[in-house]
Amino acid sequence: MDSPRVSIIGSGYVGLITGLVFAKKGFDTVCIDVIPDRVDKINNGISPFFEPRLQELHSECIDTGKIRASLDSVKEIRDSDITFICVGTPSRDDGSADLSYIEQASSDIGEALRSKERYHVVVAKSTIPPGTTEELIIKRIETVSGKKAGKDFGVCMNPEFLKQGSAVHDAFNPDRIVIGEYDTRSGEGLQVLYNDFDCPKMMCDIKAAELIKYAANSFLATKISFANDFARICEAFNVDVYEVMKGIGYDYRINPRFLNAGVGFGGSCFPKDVKAVIALADEIGVETPILDSVIETNEFQPIHFVNIIKRTIGDLNGKKVGFLGLSFKPNTDDVRETRALPIISSLIDEGVLVRAYDPEAMENFARITTLPIDYMPSWREALNGSDFAVIQTDWDEFKNIRGKDFRQYLNSPIVFDGRRSYNPESLIKEGIVYRGIGWKNL
Ligand code: UDX
Repeated sequence: MDSPRVSIIGSGYVGLITGLVFAKKGFDTVCIDVIPDRVDKINNGISPFFEPRLQELHSECIDTGKIRASLDSVKEIRDSDITFICVGTPSRDDGSADLSYIEQASSDIGEALRSKERYHVVVAKSTIPPGTTEELIIKRIETVSGKKAGKDFGVCMNPEFLKQGSAVHDAFNPDRIVIGEYDTRSGEGLQVLYNDFDCPKMMCDIKAAELIKYAANSFLATKISFANDFARICEAFNVDVYEVMKGIGYDYRINPRFLNAGVGFGGSCFPKDVKAVIALADEIGVETPILDSVIETNEFQPIHFVNIIKRTIGDLNGKKVGFLGLSFKPNTDDVRETRALPIISSLIDEGVLVRAYDPEAMENFARITTLPIDYMPSWREALNGSDFAVIQTDWDEFKNIRGKDFRQYLNSPIVFDGRRSYNPESLIKEGIVYRGIGWKNL
């Protein structure tokens, strides 16, 4: 396979960006989805979600004709050489991963391979519990197609590590590429797509690849919750947690990244994946006290933040907040598991009138809650006439707000910084009452 044709099942965040990367590298790529509107958008060169650099990459690949989208999964799989499974694996109520989309994708692949003579490589990219590739994907494809893994088709598990907000950059510049291979032929089939990438490429067992993704996200989430536990300790000792984390980060064994204390982690991966690991460990009778407390700390941070607000303001009933930031992190319109929801919900319980602004995520936020929120067209209007400000997402737009702006717009210049977006000393010098997670004098 010199220049394999690629099909991608699931044109969400991971699927579309993965597809565009291969298209940009010159491979003919088709993104498959069940949502007609999404397929139309992709074919018309309109990116279905916001991500820096995505729209220009998308337009470029449409112009070169290397990417297209389709609803016809069986035909597109049959006409390609490598198929990636990039469908969602949402959380069930008990935290475990819902694999129904994986099952459907595997059936479609089986259907396509039934009438195909040539060798085909199937690649699982979705985040899936260990054993899923072998027990579910391979078995389902074999049953439906009547073909044999290792003989008629190859199989790999190739997790993605994209971060929202820098996903396009991450996709072109990965720290590593992990390929769990069923056999050498499968791995070699997939590696053709990655020849051009200059980073460590790790070949391993399929189950190891499945677990590497969960372990990576669990570890990163643990770093954040660790920093958040220390934030509360530091507050009590009148010490800045950012200084403490900087001090430990110089140790190369620790490194300084993902130690930023704040109101906790959100997004489509960390909460879901840590809960999935806990659920799958529980199922096999394995204890996970560290991971249990990673979630516990994360759920406590918004409560702790609201307690800081209550302690500072006193009775919150009837107060107005200029609430800045609804997305789970900057440079995305994604609100999945955003900490804005528990914080706003507690503030409303206390009788606060919420005037919220986000540069990208207001529509999405309004879809996930019916809480009575006034959505404002700018940060200025959110702050104007409010009694205090809350920063929930560290968008650059908010980092540029100056002390004089807070003084000009707020009724009283009080700023609660959930993401440590500001230099506290300079705001304090400018007459702001500053309260930030892990900051002194709380
Ligand atoms: C994460 C992983 O980083 C990525 O490798 C994986 O593929 C998907 O999950 P993502 O969810 O896009 O990516 O965002 P990330 O930048 O990791 O941030 C997740 C959450 O943690 C955000 O809410 C962010 O605000 C929070 N966070 C991150 C902190 O609170 N402190 C930090 O130091 C880092």
